[in-house]
Amino acid sequence: MSRSARLVPLTAALLALALPLTACDGGVHGAPGGSGLRDPYFPKAGNGGYDVTHYGLTLSFDPARHHLTGKAVITARATKDLSAFDLDLKGLRVEAVTVEGRDARWSRAGQELTVRPHDDLDEGETFDTTVRYSGTPETITDADSAKEGWLRTADGALALGEPTGSMTWFPGNHHPSDKASYAITVTVPKGLRAVSNGELTRESTTGGRTTFAWHAAEPMASYVATVAIGRYDITRTTTEDGLPVYVAVDPTQAKASRDVLAKIPEVMEWAEYNFGPYPFSSTGAVVDRPEDAGYALETQTRPVYPGAPDTETLVHELAHQWYGDSVTPKSWRDMWLNEAFATYAEWLWQEDHGGDSVQQTFTAFYDGTSGDLDDPDAIWAFPPAKPASAAHVSEPPVYQRGAMVLHKIRQKAGDETFYDILQGWAATHRHGTADTADFTAYVEKQVPDEDFDAIWADWLYGDGKPAHP
Ligand code: TRP
Ligand code: ZN
Repeated sequence: MSRSARLVPLTAALLALALPLTACDGGVHGAPGGSGLRDPYFPKAGNGGYDVTHYGLTLSFDPARHHLTGKAVITARATKDLSAFDLDLKGLRVEAVTVEGRDARWSRAGQELTVRPHDDLDEGETFDTTVRYSGTPETITDADSAKEGWLRTADGALALGEPTGSMTWFPGNHHPSDKASYAITVTVPKGLRAVSNGELTRESTTGGRTTFAWHAAEPMASYVATVAIGRYDITRTTTEDGLPVYVAVDPTQAKASRDVLAKIPEVMEWAEYNFGPYPFSSTGAVVDRPEDAGYALETQTRPVYPGAPDTETLVHELAHQWYGDSVTPKSWRDMWLNEAFATYAEWLWQEDHGGDSVQQTFTAFYDGTSGDLDDPDAIWAFPPAKPASAAHVSEPPVYQRGAMVLHKIRQKAGDETFYDILQGWAATHRHGTADTADFTAYVEKQVPDEDFDAIWADWLYGDGKPAHP
């Protein structure tokens, strides 16, 4: 026996002793994945050690008891060797967890569901986790006191997930940086409908219950996943380009929303002209009653509106499909990349349809003469790229002052280059994620002869009102 051959087993034994004792069944390499992604605003959101590629959610809902039964099959890829990993799930009762078909151990602490698979997972390995769960899902009150999560409505339920509400109805990696495809199947009592993201692939009724199967093939962040259950009038049409338009309207809102919803194809065409090709395989809307939710949300392919939206809100939520849903913020600090673009889209729509020019809108906000805000100084409270805290991520500095940043870019770059930037930004990060540094670098690359430092310093990152409009 050679010297080196004899040494190998001894070295391996010593190494194994030196490693933390996290491994089971002979594995020696795994460690826990980690309970959060250290988001600057929502540090516990999401989890480390894996990337989800697909969620298969099979749900059944009983509105009379407000009871949800769910099975989540989560396909993920390990980004390091794992002895355990976390999912985010708030409330509900977990009944069983398997990983790759074998029973797994699991424990819960707050929103963390820690799963310890029977066998360690290797870096790069793709694995399926199945979680069976049930209960009455929670409604969350956000840091800014808005309601999200699983909302009770007059005739069913509505799931809204920005920023952290989706963990109330399915376990997952609930952070915008981890996008995945989804298949969401919902069974409800006959007579009710279940509407979700993407395309309806199956609808079948047996034994007094109807199952709706939805498929969202393009990557989706969990905060824009939705389920709407209730009585809805359904309209299925297509745009001139053949894009399916699936619209669900609470019957009490049908009359008030008819005209504005008829504009969806026109808004889509306008948006494609300005922002580039639409990134998804269908579009539409869900209109619930005004008291069912406190705000509209850009749920992917199918924005949700509490009552008939005005045209600006329709434009805003459809613009989010490019900016927010397709190009998704890497962290909640980058929220302005969503809201500035969607707000700018409203301003552009007005400019293109006989209203104020964007320059006029910009000046009115700078001068404090815009009627859009109760407190005109609210936009100067903090810089768009540095919201004051989690309670402030949906406030005017992120929306209107963020849109003013985009207008400063337009002033410097000129209209033609500015539109190239709008389209190029959407194209470059299509179906992906991006942060503020990616954006400023992108703008500087597109306009190499101009200096944007003062705009970033004063308008994007600077405290207080910039000295010059
Ligand atoms: N994104 C929504 C919109 O502007 C508004 C919104 C709802 C929101 N809930 C939020 C923004 C939570 C930030 C955080 O269309
Ligand atoms: Zn918005």
